[in-house]
Amino acid sequence: MLNPRSKMLRAFWILANIVLLVSATLNGDEQAELEEYQKFTNESLLWAPYRSNCYFGMRPRYVRESPLMMGIMWFNSLSQDGLHSLRHFATPQDKLQKYGWEVYDPRIGGKEIFIDEKNNLNLTVYFVKSKNGENWSVRVHGRPLDPKQPSTASVVVYFSQNGGEIDGMSSLAMIDRDGPNNLRFLGYSKELGEYDLTVRDNFGQYFNNPAYESMEVAPGSDCSKTSHLSLQIPDNEVWKARDVFQSLVSDSIRDILEKEETKQRPADLIPSVLTIRNLYNFNPGNFHYVQKTFDLSKEEGFEFDVTYNKLETTQSISTKEQITELITWTLNEISARFDKHFSFEEGHDLIESVDAKRKFTLETLSNLLGGIGYFYGKQLVDRETEFDESQFADIKLLNAKEEGPFELFTSVPSRGFFPRGFYWDEGFHLLQIMEYDFDLAFEILASWFEMIEDDSGWIAREIILGNEARSKVPEEFQVQNPNIANPPTLLLAFSEMLSRAIEKIGDFGSATNDQVMFTGKANSFMTNNLEANPDLLAEYAKKIYPKLLKHYNWFKESQAGLIDEYATILEDEGIWDKIHKNEVYKWVGRTFTHCLPSGMDDYPRAQPPDVAELNVDALAWVGVMTRSMRQIAHVLELTEDEAKYAEIEQNVVENLDLLHWSEENDCYCDISIDPEDDEIREFVCHEGYISLLPFALKLIPRNSPKLEKIVALMSDPEKLFSEYGLLSLSRQDEYFGKDENYWRGPIWMNINYLCLDAMRYYYPEVTFDMAGEASNAKKLYQSLKTNLSNNIYKVWKEQGYCYENYSPIDGHGTGAEHFTGWTALVVNILGRF
Ligand SMILES: *[C@@H]1O[C@H](CO)[C@@H](O)[C@H](O)[C@H]1NC(C)=O
Ligand SMILES: *[C@@H]1O[C@H](CO)[C@@H](O)[C@H](O)[C@H]1NC(C)=O
Ligand SMILES: *[C@@H]1O[C@H](CO)[C@@H](O)[C@H](O)[C@H]1NC(C)=O
Ligand SMILES: *[C@@H]1O[C@H](CO)[C@@H](O)[C@H](O)[C@H]1NC(C)=O
Repeated sequence: MLNPRSKMLRAFWILANIVLLVSATLNGDEQAELEEYQKFTNESLLWAPYRSNCYFGMRPRYVRESPLMMGIMWFNSLSQDGLHSLRHFATPQDKLQKYGWEVYDPRIGGKEIFIDEKNNLNLTVYFVKSKNGENWSVRVHGRPLDPKQPSTASVVVYFSQNGGEIDGMSSLAMIDRDGPNNLRFLGYSKELGEYDLTVRDNFGQYFNNPAYESMEVAPGSDCSKTSHLSLQIPDNEVWKARDVFQSLVSDSIRDILEKEETKQRPADLIPSVLTIRNLYNFNPGNFHYVQKTFDLSKEEGFEFDVTYNKLETTQSISTKEQITELITWTLNEISARFDKHFSFEEGHDLIESVDAKRKFTLETLSNLLGGIGYFYGKQLVDRETEFDESQFADIKLLNAKEEGPFELFTSVPSRGFFPRGFYWDEGFHLLQIMEYDFDLAFEILASWFEMIEDDSGWIAREIILGNEARSKVPEEFQVQNPNIANPPTLLLAFSEMLSRAIEKIGDFGSATNDQVMFTGKANSFMTNNLEANPDLLAEYAKKIYPKLLKHYNWFKESQAGLIDEYATILEDEGIWDKIHKNEVYKWVGRTFTHCLPSGMDDYPRAQPPDVAELNVDALAWVGVMTRSMRQIAHVLELTEDEAKYAEIEQNVVENLDLLHWSEENDCYCDISIDPEDDEIREFVCHEGYISLLPFALKLIPRNSPKLEKIVALMSDPEKLFSEYGLLSLSRQDEYFGKDENYWRGPIWMNINYLCLDAMRYYYPEVTFDMAGEASNAKKLYQSLKTNLSNNIYKVWKEQGYCYENYSPIDGHGTGAEHFTGWTALVVNILGRF
């Protein structure tokens, strides 16, 4: 088994090797080990439900040209308007009582559940893989929620394999039908090779009425056995599988109702009417619908398996017993891995037991991992629209052009609401994922770093690739613009990883070095190279570094503020000479009401906006970026650069105090020029997350007297403290709870997490009996930790999901539901803090 340290170094190597191409510096053994590792990564992460927006949708990772796509849909076809409740893309409008992963790891598999009262269905989907990850099986198991309520579960599985015809046969063709319900397909993908795909029933009764001789209401419309329709659907339309199904079935219904011989069909044959058939005599093609209509009056329900095997396998998954065994193995394995990384104590909290905590956190982590997707396609970018810096009107990006294709391997904030990559969220996701699977976090980070644009250094705020991803985004948010930034949280995660690397490098430098490396061999190449071969590190620097540096410079240049506007004022105040004039920032693209780039959209800012405004959070984020640049320079032994970044970091820290600390308000604030009197520096103080950021991001010196004031602000129940976590905006602020009320009071996990983590950093060894500030901090830490996690747990129990944010009034879940992006950081809080 790997120890975390060797995992770290390995991951570090991998990152380097993904971002760049290695490298004559490796000797033969090292090269072989590296390849072994990459092979493992590629195989174990090849197959997973990477279509984040589907309730269950598979596609392989890094298979760009001819991926096999799969999805599952279902509805109650006994109901005349059942088609309206056809489930496919995860959406809150479906009002499922619950859905999501109970146990999941993309490398291994998992178990996802759906409680759908409207369709009277309790559905479980298991996903398992062969040990080498090449073959997989999906088990679909359903039962009625209420067997006395007449209903059917009409389950539709679809497959698509592009690639046209091979030897006169479609790239995916049904080759065998064993009885009415077991189907076998043969497929070919350029990248995946030849494969075999089967759909086989384990048990379950198809809907049938013995009063009729046959259930067939029109040729092919028969719900008493599996329906199959094959047709040609172009690649870029596959995501419309649900629409196509609905429209084909609707056409079939119309046809049945129009025809003399069928229009009198009895009401109890509706499930047959709602099956798919080949009304238009389509030729078979690359796309297949398989529809199974089970009678839900039987308590035991139904079950079938969909199994994919590469041809020429030695260990194909074949029998139902094998799949059952794999499911058991999978669930146990994930459980064991989870317990290796997280542990729980009985605490002074509401969560009944250690078991309850474990179940809650395992499910929450599983849902974060379950959001991980692989996206491939074009993105919309407007590079023409100019920003009028002094107008602050809403910006319309009307000059969009498609660019790409690009690819992104990422997790998502919420499958139902935000199934795409978000730059602001992703760093927080990685802080959680890295505690469970460091290498996986690195894979994701590396994929994002690949998106750094070569020329400019820009990364889009939201990465929306292809039509499927775009279909979930309101039009006004689809287009990205290279002037717009977002908090660089990826560098926050990267910095955390580097901190650990630096610690480990320190350890490796010590005399007793007996690390076990990932091959199981002691003294493997990694230790040796990091220790003994600084040239190799220099090699990295030469290659990864320029891209990160570009990104860093892009941020600093594009968000630079105007310090000269303050020259006279600051001269009068006597601090002009002390200010570091290059380290002042503002978010480009704010409007009167919103500052979307800051990530905290409607958090109050200077009114009216002014070109001279300087944002304290923008400056703090530059501090984080600079810190991680310094760390990477350190790892790479670029002494001069390291010193340069250390100086910039110091300048940022000093500017935070010189420019943004308000003595009068005892907190960090944005500044602007006073609208009444341009000789006065106006502190725009709205106590809340933005004033806490320099603390939350650990930028305040450990001995700073300001720490005490910040602890006092966080502890004050009249301002930010609550029974449910820290409020985004003080109860006493004039904007508290106003208007959209997004970042004006609601409790958000990401900043609460950073504050808890910062308290661990600033007050590491504090005990309750200490006096003064430290003791207050400790008490705050304890109560915040308990209150925050208690509330998220309580809401999960009562409302079934994690939420985007939580009410400052009574703690209930608000914003998007099933938000297991950064809210999932509760797992670290309960299992590691
Ligand atoms: C792993 O996958 C990446 C991305 O497709 C590819 O570039 C690389 O060659 C693969 N490595 C191995 C060892 O299979
Ligand atoms: C759904 O079915 C599973 C067994 O497959 C069962 O354990 C669970 O309690 C059921 N849930 C509901 C809400 O009926
Ligand atoms: C699945 O396919 C590959 C061949 O590509 C085979 O080597 C592997 O062993 C198979 N299955 C299992 C259960 O590992
Ligand atoms: C909040 O924390 C305090 C102090 O630890 C504790 O007494 C109180 O019960 C907590 N409230 C909730 C709702 O967890």
